[in-house]
Amino acid sequence: AAEQRQKQHTLNDVLEKACHAYQKNLKVSPRAVSYFKGRGLSGVVAKQFGLGYAPEGWRSLASVFPAYDDPLLVESGLVILNEEDGGEAKRYDRFRDRVMFPIRNIKGECIGFGGRVLGDDKPKYLNSPETPVFSKGRELYGLFEARGALREHGYALVTEGYMDVVALAQLGFPNAVATLGTACTAEHVHKLFRFTDSVVFSFDGDSAGRRAARKALDAALPLASDVRSIKFLFLPPEHDPDSFIREHGKEAFARYVSEAVPLSRFLLDAARDGCDLHTAEGRSHLSSNAKPLWELLPAGALKQQLLTEIADLVQLSSRELTDVWYPAQTKAK
Ligand code: CTP
Ligand code: MN
Ligand code: MN
Ligand code: MN
Ligand code: MN
Repeated sequence: AAEQRQKQHTLNDVLEKACHAYQKNLKVSPRAVSYFKGRGLSGVVAKQFGLGYAPEGWRSLASVFPAYDDPLLVESGLVILNEEDGGEAKRYDRFRDRVMFPIRNIKGECIGFGGRVLGDDKPKYLNSPETPVFSKGRELYGLFEARGALREHGYALVTEGYMDVVALAQLGFPNAVATLGTACTAEHVHKLFRFTDSVVFSFDGDSAGRRAARKALDAALPLASDVRSIKFLFLPPEHDPDSFIREHGKEAFARYVSEAVPLSRFLLDAARDGCDLHTAEGRSHLSSNAKPLWELLPAGALKQQLLTEIADLVQLSSRELTDVWYPAQTKAK
């Protein structure tokens, strides 16, 4: 265990050093600076988030780490080791010619990176791989930077992307975090609830964003409680939080936040999706859609009230609905 701690400590040092080097590179890379400026970022927010630039070239990090062949660099995810062609092992930088977003843990230590191309190349973003200090399913981008604002604002905005977090922070919502290009997990939500008891999911308005919201619903349902608030904000299809707040401004975004849909209504909407409530078939379909979602809720007042609401929608009593859902148990009684 002590050995493992030592290893993590060393990995943190490596990543921290790379983070500083990328930040320094940004200052002398007019292309990268104009990229960020072109996206409306201020120097202040760039500094706050430690944004940087990974230069072109296959082994740029060799100037930062003279021992470029050190296995630690591979383990940190900064260097890729290619041993394929049976011959000599080849090492090269993972991040090349990308603007860099350092991902920090809650102590503020750099644990990984997201890197974006400056143009339209694919993949648009490249992220650090899973390492002993970095796990995508657990970490939230921006949580360290947002931690004070979460208390002040009283809620967290959960977005999909790096640029969403940085743009929102610059334009008046420093309480934003992002999942790291993965689905929002129960662990993400659990972690957030250590800092606030109110969460607003604000994903992209496109179909991928709506799918992400559905996944977040599944992750959040078991953590709902009578003292927590979980809401979902749906932007127009052509927008993500970054593009929306830049085009329409802070007040317009604040309006969307205030009109965010509570978890209970999103659950009902999700269950109702595609069901024609004017027909018995449609109502029955809703009841079977609702069951797995409703079951994820922990026991409590919210769960009880949703039972009533679902029953009303399908024109049954609560008792009849639970009889439908749990036929064997009812017979046994
Ligand atoms: N993402 C990723 N790899 C990709 C594409 C996306 O890891 N190839 C992750 C990134 O964390 C990204 C998030 O998913 O921020 C959301 O994706 P998308 O909406 O496509 O990107 P934006 O953040 O809106 O990117 P940008 O505004 O810079 O174009
Ligand atoms: Mn998207
Ligand atoms: Mn975007
Ligand atoms: Mn987006
Ligand atoms: Mn618009």
